[in-house]
Amino acid sequence: MEEKEISQAVISRLPRYFRYLGELRDQGIERVSSQELSDIMKVTASQIRQDFNNFGGFGQQGYGYNVEYLFQEIGKILGLDQNHNLIIIGAGNLGQALANYGNFERRGFLFRGVFDRNPQLYGKKIRDVEVQPMEQIEQFVKSNNIDIAVLAIPKTEAERVAEQLVGYGIKGIWNFAHVDLNVPEEVQVENVHLSDSLMKLSYNINRFHAGGDGRSDIPQ
Ligand code: NAI
Repeated sequence: MEEKEISQAVISRLPRYFRYLGELRDQGIERVSSQELSDIMKVTASQIRQDFNNFGGFGQQGYGYNVEYLFQEIGKILGLDQNHNLIIIGAGNLGQALANYGNFERRGFLFRGVFDRNPQLYGKKIRDVEVQPMEQIEQFVKSNNIDIAVLAIPKTEAERVAEQLVGYGIKGIWNFAHVDLNVPEEVQVENVHLSDSLMKLSYNINRFHAGGDGRSDIPQ
């Protein structure tokens, strides 16, 4: 299939459509109009139609979209119609929290292994998966068809470990370390920085409260 270049802005909205459609589907709702979706999602109906038109419009008819079909199609676009095997590098606070969160599996992200360089953690079980030493990672990635690595290690280590993983054939890195990784273009990186989201929240709080007297509490 020939693929048209879709903007990242559209792609970043797809998981949210997918989530809401999943909820409608779970409620047994079979059809939804762009206006109804707009009301639930707080996105304009024209934005929704524009987004969907990038993919041929998903066959909206007079009475709206077929929820199941739309859910499946957006899932396919997001690559969720196939499973992804993932490993976590770094079994510290964050790595363990991610490993303990079972919900990613509902979307086909299967937690296969966790690795660390601290011998005190080797053998520790997180949801039936044992922490393994880094020395075993190459063999593990190659023999378990691992396509995604989650980086939950210090930023000073991230670049080197990412390079290693790329060499083993990893296709995607979910990067929590606060560093921009240099990887070949065939390897996809998704950075997740919770603090960015928190700073955005801070900005919006400030902007809202500055509305009255314009006063800022930030020390000069
Ligand atoms: P932590 O210190 O609890 O855990 C880090 C783990 O990585 C330790 O178990 C350590 O032994 C292991 N490690 C260090 N170097 C390694 C290497 N070369 N190979 C394998 N394992 C290695 O730290 P925490 O709190 O879990 O944070 C981990 C990373 O995630 C840090 O870079 C932190 O800044 C980042 N972080 C990012 C967040 C985000 O929103 N992006 C949120 C929280 C943490």
